[in-house]
Amino acid sequence: MTDTTSRPLLPMAGLTHGNRSPVTCHLRCGDACSVAAPNTTDTTYFRDVAAQALRRRTVVGASLTAAALGVASTAPAAATGRGHGHGHPGGGHGGHTPRDPLAFTAIAPVATTVDDVTVPTGYEWDPIIRWGDPILRGAPRFDAAAQSPEAQAGQFGYNNDYLDIIETNRAGTRALLVCNHEYTNEAIMFPPGTDPETLVRTVWAAHGMSVVELRRRRRGDTWQYVPGARLNRRITLDTPFAVDGPAAGSDLLKTAEDPTGTRVRGTMNNCSGGTTPWGTVLSGEENFNQYFKATGTDPRETRYGLSSTQDARNWRAVDPRWDATTEGFRNEPNRFGWVVEIDPSDPRSTPVKHTAMGRFKHEGANVIVNRDGHVVAYMGDDERFDYLYRFVSRDRLQGRGGSWKRHGNRSPLADGDLSVARFTGDGLEDGVSDGTGEWIPLTKNGQSMVPGFTLEEVLVYTRLAADAVMPTKMDRPEDVQPSLHNGRIYVACTNNTDRGKVGKEGPTEPNPRAANKDGHIVEITPTGGDHTSGTFAWDLFLICGDAASAGTYFGGWTGPVSPISCPDNVAFDSVGNLWISTDGQPSSIKLSDGLFKVPVEGPERGHVQQFLAVPSGAETCGPVVHDRDGSVFVAVQHPGEDGTWDAPQSRFPDFVPAGGTALPGQFAGPRPTVVQVTRR
Ligand code: FEO
Ligand code: CA
Ligand code: CA
Repeated sequence: MTDTTSRPLLPMAGLTHGNRSPVTCHLRCGDACSVAAPNTTDTTYFRDVAAQALRRRTVVGASLTAAALGVASTAPAAATGRGHGHGHPGGGHGGHTPRDPLAFTAIAPVATTVDDVTVPTGYEWDPIIRWGDPILRGAPRFDAAAQSPEAQAGQFGYNNDYLDIIETNRAGTRALLVCNHEYTNEAIMFPPGTDPETLVRTVWAAHGMSVVELRRRRRGDTWQYVPGARLNRRITLDTPFAVDGPAAGSDLLKTAEDPTGTRVRGTMNNCSGGTTPWGTVLSGEENFNQYFKATGTDPRETRYGLSSTQDARNWRAVDPRWDATTEGFRNEPNRFGWVVEIDPSDPRSTPVKHTAMGRFKHEGANVIVNRDGHVVAYMGDDERFDYLYRFVSRDRLQGRGGSWKRHGNRSPLADGDLSVARFTGDGLEDGVSDGTGEWIPLTKNGQSMVPGFTLEEVLVYTRLAADAVMPTKMDRPEDVQPSLHNGRIYVACTNNTDRGKVGKEGPTEPNPRAANKDGHIVEITPTGGDHTSGTFAWDLFLICGDAASAGTYFGGWTGPVSPISCPDNVAFDSVGNLWISTDGQPSSIKLSDGLFKVPVEGPERGHVQQFLAVPSGAETCGPVVHDRDGSVFVAVQHPGEDGTWDAPQSRFPDFVPAGGTALPGQFAGPRPTVVQVTRR
C-alpha cells in the first residue's frame, strides 16, 4: 500500500477559486471542484434572469452598503492572546436588543495567521473535548505517535462537525455532547512511515460520531466531559446500521456482505445534522463518493461524483467493499449518502439510515413539527448546482420529547413524502431577490411521482429523479434550518464559483451572482405557515461578502456589518437570532473563519456581528447557542489543515511550543476540538 502520510498530489492546487485550501478539497470532497459539477442537466427552469436587471440591482446594493459603511471592515485584528480570557477589543459595532441575553460587541475581523480562538471582550473559551481524548472505558490516553484502530475506536474522532449539547437534567448540570466526525487528514494525524493498513483502519475509527456525557457543578460553568461514562459511545465505519424506509431490502442496496440490503456497516463523511424533538440526532452522509473506486461511466455513479480515479485513500486495498467495480460490491456506494439517526440516550441502540429521505450528498437535516403533527425535515444537497429538498413524515408525531421508543421504536422519519424545491423570481425591478416557489413531489403516499423511476430508484438515485422534474440549481445548499420563532426556513448557500462559467447556468434570482465566492442565505416562508404546503414565498436574507464589495446585501440593514463569507452551519438562539458559522473565508476574503450573529426580525434585521474567530486553517462548525446560560459552543474543524506531521501549521489547542515536549495526552500539532465560549 502507499504511504498516505505524505502530502499527496493536490489537483486543486492553484485552482481553488478563492474558496478553500486545496488540502481540504482533497481530503473532504475528493477534489470535487477539479472535475465538472456532476449536475450536467441543461434543464434550467429559470430562463436566465435578465443580466441587465441583475447588474442594476448589484450596483444599487453596492452603493447602499458602501455609503453606509462606517468601519474599515477588512482590517485584520491585532493578534489575540492565547488561552482563556483573552477577549478582543471589538470591531466597533455592538448593537443588541435589550432582551438579548447574550450581548456582545462584535470582534474585529481576524487575520488568518492568528492561531487562536478569538472571542469578544468579557468572554473566555475552553476546550471541552479534543481529537483523541479517551471516551470509552478502557480507552488509552491519546498518543498521536502510537495510534491504533483499537485506541481510536475508544477516543473522540477527528474533524468534529455537527455538534449539539443536550442537557439531560433540570438543574443544567448534566448533558450529552453529540458530534459528527467528517473526515481525516492523514498527513498531520500520523507520523511518516506509519504502517498503511494500520493507518486505514485507524481512520475508519476516526470517522463517524461520538456521544459523550458532560457534567458541571452549576449552570453557567464550563462543561467537563466524563471519560468512561455509561452513555458514552463511538460510532465508526464498523458500527452496524439498520436501513429503514421504502428502499430497505431493495436489490439496489444488496452486497455480498449484506444480501438482505437492510444492514450497513458504518457511516462516514458525516457533515452537519440536527437534533429532533424526540431526542435523537440526525447526521448527513455527505461526500461519500470519494472513498470508492467505481466504473465512472454509469450515470447512476457519475451523477454522484463516483469515478475510477477519486479514491486516493485506497481503502479498497484493505477491504474490497470500497471497490465498486468488483462483483459483490457494486451497490456498496448506494449504502452511503443517507440521513442517519442515532439515539444518544441508548448506547446499545442500532442507528438507522432513512431511505425515505433520499440519497444525495446530505449536508444535514433539520426537523420541525408542523402544527398538524407531521414532522418536516429540510435538507441541502451540498454540490454546485444541486438542490434543496423537503421531507414530510407520513405519520404524525404522538406527543413530544423522549426517546423514539415512545413511538414504537420506529422513527417518524421512516416513511413520508420527499420533494424538491423550485424557486421562481418575481423580477429584479423591485430591487431585491425574491419571489415564490413550489415543492415538486418526488414521492407521495408511498409512490414514485417521477415518470420512469420506481419508488426505490427515486430514493437511491434521488439526484437523477430530481433532475427529471427541473428543480432550481442552487449554489451549494448546506445547513437548512427552520426558525421556531418566525416559522421561516433559512438556507445557507455557501458558494459556487462555477456559476456563470461557460456552459454552466448563469445567475438566477435566487442565486444572483456569477462566480459566487461568498455565498448567500435564502429565507423561505411556507404558505400559510404550513410546512406541508406545496408552495412558499422566498427572499434572499443575506448576500454575503465584505460589505464594501459589489452585490452584497444584509437583510435591508445599511449600518456597519462584520464581513462574512461562505455561510455553512446555522443555529438559532433563544430569542430567534440566527447564528452563522463559515467555511472558506481565509481564501475568499482573506480572514479567519468565524461565527456570526444576525437578527432576522426587527430594526436590526441583517446586522451581522462577528462573535468569534477560529485558529489558523480551521473552519467553524456546529454552532450551539445556549444564550440563557451565557455559553456558545463551536466545533473547530481542520485546524492547521495545510501542515504536515513534521511541520504543523497550527498548535491549537494544546499549544505545545515548537521544539517543546508534549505532556502526556497532549499533541504538538493541531487537534480538532469542541470549544465552549462562556461569558465571564
Ligand atoms: Fe461538509 Fe457541506 O460541508
Ligand atoms: Ca424580486
Ligand atoms: Ca458543512
